[in-house]
Amino acid sequence: MDFIIKAAIEAVKALYQTDITPQDVNLQQTRKEFEGQVTIVTFPFTRFSRKSPEQTGEQIGEYLKANVAEVAGFNVIKGFLNISIADTYWLNVYQTQVLAENFGILPANGKKVMVEYSSPNTNKPLHLGHVRNNLLGYSVAAILEAAGYEVIKANLVNDRGIHICKSMLAWQKFGNGETPQSAGLKGDHLVGKYYVIFDKEYKKQIDELKAAGKTEEEAKKTAPLILEAQQMLQKWEAGDEEVISLWKTMNGWVYDGFADTYKKLGVDFDKFYYESNTYLLGKDIIEEGLAKGIFFKKEDGSVWIDLTEDGLDQKLVLRADGTSVYITQDLGTAQLKYNDFGMDESIYVVGNEQDYHFKVLFLILEKLGKTWAKGLFHLSYGMVDLPSGKMKSREGTVVDADDLISEMESTAKEQTEALGKVDGFNIEDKQHLYHIIGMGALKYFLLKVDPKKRLLFDPNESVDFQGHTGPFIQYTHARIKSVLSRAGVDYNSANGVDTLDAVERDLIIQLTEYTNIVSIAAKEFNPAAVANYIYELAKVYNKFYHEKSILQAETEDIKKFRLQLSAAAAQVIAKGMRLLGIEVPERM
Ligand code: ARG
Repeated sequence: MDFIIKAAIEAVKALYQTDITPQDVNLQQTRKEFEGQVTIVTFPFTRFSRKSPEQTGEQIGEYLKANVAEVAGFNVIKGFLNISIADTYWLNVYQTQVLAENFGILPANGKKVMVEYSSPNTNKPLHLGHVRNNLLGYSVAAILEAAGYEVIKANLVNDRGIHICKSMLAWQKFGNGETPQSAGLKGDHLVGKYYVIFDKEYKKQIDELKAAGKTEEEAKKTAPLILEAQQMLQKWEAGDEEVISLWKTMNGWVYDGFADTYKKLGVDFDKFYYESNTYLLGKDIIEEGLAKGIFFKKEDGSVWIDLTEDGLDQKLVLRADGTSVYITQDLGTAQLKYNDFGMDESIYVVGNEQDYHFKVLFLILEKLGKTWAKGLFHLSYGMVDLPSGKMKSREGTVVDADDLISEMESTAKEQTEALGKVDGFNIEDKQHLYHIIGMGALKYFLLKVDPKKRLLFDPNESVDFQGHTGPFIQYTHARIKSVLSRAGVDYNSANGVDTLDAVERDLIIQLTEYTNIVSIAAKEFNPAAVANYIYELAKVYNKFYHEKSILQAETEDIKKFRLQLSAAAAQVIAKGMRLLGIEVPERM
């Protein structure tokens, strides 16, 4: 509404001989209970007008009405000047912007951004925390793309280290050659099974050692299994053929399993990084930091950085035996990513338990003088919990992503069948619909919440067709499609109308907001902005649908106009949901 701001500046100049700037004009959406669509707050102008806020509002209102063609009327409530914008203005915006092919896709901004997400370890399957991670990462990438960025979706797989050696060792000892095929298990689940077995057997050994008089700490360090796992890691680092071959086989199983889960989640990646390729790179950066005097060596040979002046503490960056720690690897990977893509911004989608790690990582890179470090951002998100019930995992184990996905599909099936929404569907169509609804429910529920907030995922609530849910929005979309399919006329050639009813105007205004929401969501890396917007849009559409006859409209022109408006609403719903990674059904 730049033209209103401009006009307000002119009004203040003409009426009160004062120059103000656009920032001085406080423009808001008019509150629902008042007439009008935009509101100017008049309190700040009383300094120049030397009149009450009401009188100031009246004077500015009169001026705008007399001088601005699009201002159809106004009313003043205390210090608020509510302005009614002419229908011709809204109709023009609707026709030239909302109906345009690329509505909601911002022009390219020439910036490149990397979004790293998922980044699992290869010793066990994905869990509920990864689900939030994957959905967030995928959605933020889609939003940034719509906002004009060139986006690279990256996945940094932690494929090496003691954790995978534990699974490998347990498989060697207790696996009897079991494979995903022979076990009928997804590869990531099979490897996870051996990780659990390792832990169980290791605990047994610890208990035995404790019974023999050792302290807990001693027992943990000297249990034969952990020593063997450590030996295995050393062999891996030395390139031992047998160990490497088993490692490749078992990681291969895990990747097949992950690929399947990613497919079901509907997420994908442009670039995979593997820590086995990146963990050594960090050591060059350690050298660089030592040379620059940013790191220091302790007597035992370990390398540290002192961040006490930055309010943090001393941080180990390389062990005394020369092996890398987590941050060593991340320093190297950050450099590698930049060498590969030279992006302007780089986002790490990682849970908030790693807030400290990323603070330190970014600070070190800045101290090293990496000019690109200012473009790094940790998109930190909170935990997801499940209410107690059938999906609640046993103490200490986490909710498995694959289990959750199939649980969502069956919940969607139950609810959909109960409502009789699939009469006339064949088996395949039904299966597809349950998948779309189940995943829509899950994705919407997780994405409608600000990433930083911890959240409680309630599977049943998430599928409620009447609630603030994905399925409610999906149903609204299908409802529109159903009306359109019964139209029987070509509504694209609508002659149009020149006046609007209130619900039509509200719907058009809500639609025009979409582009703005995309840029806000991109700026804040926040899919929740899009999610909440689409919910409002669906509600405004439903109000329109209930209040106005579409197929039985007063005239043929109005009928075509309402059909076209409905089609536009369906399209924006679909576009917005797409940014959340959610599909919308054509019918249900
Ligand atoms: N693999 C790590 C984990 O599962 C997450 C890695 C996050 N990304 C990074 N660049 N550090 O905890």
